[in-house]
Amino acid sequence: NFILFDEKSRVFHLRNTFLSYLIKIEESNVLAHIYFGKPVKQYKDNKNYPRRDRGFSGNIPLNPDRSLSKDTLPQEYSSHGSMDFRTPASIIQRKNGSDLLDLRYDSHYITDGKPDIEGLPQTYVLDKSEAQTLVISLKDRETAIYFDLFYTIFSDRAVITRSVKIRNETRETIKLEKAASFQLDFAHTRRFDEVIALPGAQVNERQISRQSLLSGTKVFESRRGTSSHHMNNFIALVHHHTTENTGEAIGLQFVYSGNHSFELEKDQINQLRVVGGINSHRFSWELNANQSFQTPEMILSYSSQGLNKMSQIHHELLRERIARGRHQFAERPILVNNWEATYFDFNSEKIKAIIDEAKELGIEMFVLDDGWFGKRDADNSSLGDWFEYEGKLTNGLREIADHAHSKGLKFGLWFEPEMISIDSELYRTHPDFLMQEPGRMPSASRSQHVLDFTRLDVRQTIEKQMRKILDTIPLDYIKWDMNRSLSDVYSITLYPQRQGEVAHRYMLGLYELLEHLTADYPEILWEGCSGGGGRFDAGFIYYMPQSWTSDNTDAVERMKIQYGTSLAYPISSITAHVSAVPNHQTGRSTSLKTRGETAMSAVFGYELDLTKLSPEEKKQVKDQIISYQTIRPVIQYGHYYRLASPFEENIAAWMFVSPKQDEAIVFLGRILASAQPAFHEVYLMGLDDEALYQEQTSKRIFSGAELMAVGLYFPDFQGDFQTELLHFKKL
Ligand code: GLA
Repeated sequence: NFILFDEKSRVFHLRNTFLSYLIKIEESNVLAHIYFGKPVKQYKDNKNYPRRDRGFSGNIPLNPDRSLSKDTLPQEYSSHGSMDFRTPASIIQRKNGSDLLDLRYDSHYITDGKPDIEGLPQTYVLDKSEAQTLVISLKDRETAIYFDLFYTIFSDRAVITRSVKIRNETRETIKLEKAASFQLDFAHTRRFDEVIALPGAQVNERQISRQSLLSGTKVFESRRGTSSHHMNNFIALVHHHTTENTGEAIGLQFVYSGNHSFELEKDQINQLRVVGGINSHRFSWELNANQSFQTPEMILSYSSQGLNKMSQIHHELLRERIARGRHQFAERPILVNNWEATYFDFNSEKIKAIIDEAKELGIEMFVLDDGWFGKRDADNSSLGDWFEYEGKLTNGLREIADHAHSKGLKFGLWFEPEMISIDSELYRTHPDFLMQEPGRMPSASRSQHVLDFTRLDVRQTIEKQMRKILDTIPLDYIKWDMNRSLSDVYSITLYPQRQGEVAHRYMLGLYELLEHLTADYPEILWEGCSGGGGRFDAGFIYYMPQSWTSDNTDAVERMKIQYGTSLAYPISSITAHVSAVPNHQTGRSTSLKTRGETAMSAVFGYELDLTKLSPEEKKQVKDQIISYQTIRPVIQYGHYYRLASPFEENIAAWMFVSPKQDEAIVFLGRILASAQPAFHEVYLMGLDDEALYQEQTSKRIFSGAELMAVGLYFPDFQGDFQTELLHFKKL
């Protein structure tokens, strides 16, 4: 039993061996937040929020107590109105123009397992005993508008997930204008006075940014229709003393791939409110009488052992209870992708030559990227025409697929299903499929436009085309790309007053299509992509267990991007390729060893013209492949530890430990050389203290405690951009 309710104190206690979460039904049935943190075996209801009459923080309607105010009381879920002037979790417009609500506790129930959230990605349980769910219904004091707050606690994880269902039991239509998935109020910033976010840009995703929480409101958001390169939908609350391995951290991760926001407000008396969910910017949702709306899910993790532990909690949850399907725990194939090798300029001979070379080198899969469909020779045409570009590949796709298969390689293909080019058959037959306001010229991006995926007929047209390819070409893998942000967000099928629904309906439409295709083609390994890592989020992982991390394949910049991504995402979801030098994005040249070892720290592959490699390089690639194959399970599914941050130093280090602690892979990298270098040390993590480990290349033997306490020196690297991969095995 992980959820207790004490009738007398009216306190809910969600607890397991990792955390406690305390909620209290306060006076006047206001739902107050008490605590989220380290587990507390027994809570005796002694920490009641102090009463104080504060000027301009008025009182709860019908309660004459001047010392109690929603403006200051920490609450579980707030609304606009009834004297709470802080950032609200919800806003509702009623027919009479009022947006006032006064939410009070109405009822609750506790159920085993975890109820489904319809049509959305979510964490799941395989067995009801894995989790328990508390549902607390709040009701507006004056109307029959209900907010059901869902809290799921997992029995063996340091995680609570939250979601909110808004029910309109009135007889009139109401309009949601804001519906956060969660709120967390703290009565002070003593425990959490800093936030870590993952801002970035295309080819510069998920850069770690740690900031103080000062007075006022800080917002981390995307308004781009996707989770975006620009601000990932994960944040962590930390104390300024929190380090990788010490101190408290709360991870907040949104299981959604569209617009999002996290708002953090430090109020007049240094209390902190955090609210997050679908971005309320240009969001609204009409609810007719008896209709309901459920928000996407928010993951709340708790770590008392710093950021690395927090990351491990998210890695395990995403890997084990968000990702699904046949490839969820499977070793992911080492692939070669032709994008940076050929771009649009390929033919059958070229592709077959790459496949033949891939076979020689031991590569396991060939992926044909952009340019095989419609009349696609450049990025300004053919999106929407998911039929073969006749003549580009002399004997067609089928021959290429068969060729790869005959060589023992798997075969994969690139799609960008949500898009339309003006120069396409699809546009010529269905100009209305494009998302735009009729009569207003929409903005192009990469010369392309977005399809109105709120529409079933649009999705079905794309689905039909895709199924034809999937049913005729033997595919082992699909890369699902999406190469622009949503602008001109408007759907001709929705009433004017419902246009605020388009961005979310787009996501619901997309998720429905992903569900159909991934369920019907379970043998296919699906990889998400959005101009690199523009839609790298927990929502997408529900459908596709891995994602292209960045279009930046420069090994040095990748160290930061992969390090930043690891804050919230499991290594099995992070893909990384060795590309040619000088690097196509930065112009930097790094050794094949450095490129290889950086990419081998994730789901590994190549993205260059293999036929152009020298004999020595080919030998090196062969060796990289063999060594990745031996360490792959530990890299992809081991415990991951960050050891040194490239955001803070001229070095990067991380490691992977097998669940049995009998194997470990350590990555050490130094960025710039110096004539008078400092000697860097590294202390390993997660090993068995007592055991002896042998490093596989040098054959040196170490004890686990020695590696962790005494540590190792970095090699005395010569030159810029040097790396080393160490492989330890228990004796
Ligand atoms: C995006 C992807 C790349 C490649 C191109 C093809 O930028 O991130 O990997 O597939 O599209 O146009």
